[in-house]
Amino acid sequence: MTLDIPRFDTLEVSGLRVLVRVDFNVPLDGEGRIGDDTRVRAALPTLRAVLERGGRPILLSHLGRPEGRVVEGLRLDAVAACLEGHLGRKVRKFDESIGQALERAVCETGDVCMLENVRFHAGETRGDPELAAAFSRLGQAFVNDAFGASHRDHASVTGPARHLPSAAGLLLEREIDAFRRVLENPARPLVAILGGAKVSDKLPVVANLLDRCDALLIGGGMAYTFLRAQGAETGASLVQEDQLDAVRENLEAAEKKGCELLLPSDHVLAERFAEDAEPLTSEVIPRGSMGLDIGPRTRERYGERIRDAATVVWNGPMGVFEWKAFRAGTEAVGRAVAASAGYTVVGGGDSVAALELFGLSADMDHVSTGGGASLELLEGKVLPGFAALQAL
Ligand code: 3PG
Repeated sequence: MTLDIPRFDTLEVSGLRVLVRVDFNVPLDGEGRIGDDTRVRAALPTLRAVLERGGRPILLSHLGRPEGRVVEGLRLDAVAACLEGHLGRKVRKFDESIGQALERAVCETGDVCMLENVRFHAGETRGDPELAAAFSRLGQAFVNDAFGASHRDHASVTGPARHLPSAAGLLLEREIDAFRRVLENPARPLVAILGGAKVSDKLPVVANLLDRCDALLIGGGMAYTFLRAQGAETGASLVQEDQLDAVRENLEAAEKKGCELLLPSDHVLAERFAEDAEPLTSEVIPRGSMGLDIGPRTRERYGERIRDAATVVWNGPMGVFEWKAFRAGTEAVGRAVAASAGYTVVGGGDSVAALELFGLSADMDHVSTGGGASLELLEGKVLPGFAALQAL
């Protein structure tokens, strides 16, 4: 796997309409207001740089999953207004993302243009080449700055690179540089922390990281399938029986490869999966009880490893951090990563939400803007959005 892609400063943009694929897939509240504009702010360096270098950004993005239909609540007007506020200059919003009238309009205006949600066209998620060609006719150069969507082989993500001179945007570069420091010659020890509910979602990451990490710390619901695979009693905890063999293979591989795989040795238990369930700390999980967080001894063990690390990558919470009684494990790990003198990268929607909750985001070296995309990078996959740029 190589993460070399054409960099932003190699692309000629002066005097050109620059088609910029961004990921403005922001959370909306019930009234169509933006809940968190991190992704809009994350695109600003690229957009400002295009403008400073004499280009004019024409923005493409998806929002939600409208499945090829126009969904009024998923129009990009609120996002365009938000961008206008941050950019401090006019952003003209269009209700279409392709067509001859639009091609004329984007040429005539001198404004930054925000086009309509690309997923209103069914061809977007199918990677339709004709739709990609139609997007490409709107610009004279292409910048992919949509890190969060780069694991999708969708028309607006991968298509324009086949038609226009293209490069990565500055956000994409920043994300790639961060994951490179983890995946290619990391400063050692490299410690990975993996959590989250389903072990099946994370096993490809475990398998890839075993080759690279000095220690892998496992928490969250996925830890119980590992514990069961080792023969431990896991009570009513979440266990994916059909993954036990795969987990055993990973445990054996870890030993062969000299990667220390750490599992929780104590837990915060409950008798029901409920926010108001009575929490109980224990090293054993009796029948009828389920583990909903890592216990205090595990927090300490994991914290020591994290403190000694030169590189840390974290994806997935250690417990049900949304509920107060079961969040201490995720908070302790978050604080240890924040205090680490090593280089720290956090990815995945839940861990990033946990950082926000505990006010720790600013203490990390890199907080990824991509959930699925960062996971696929950690799995060692080649992201289609990168491959399209690399094929140039
Ligand atoms: C995300 O929010 O992870 C990206 O924008 C991709 O969205 P998708 O999972 O709907 O493709």
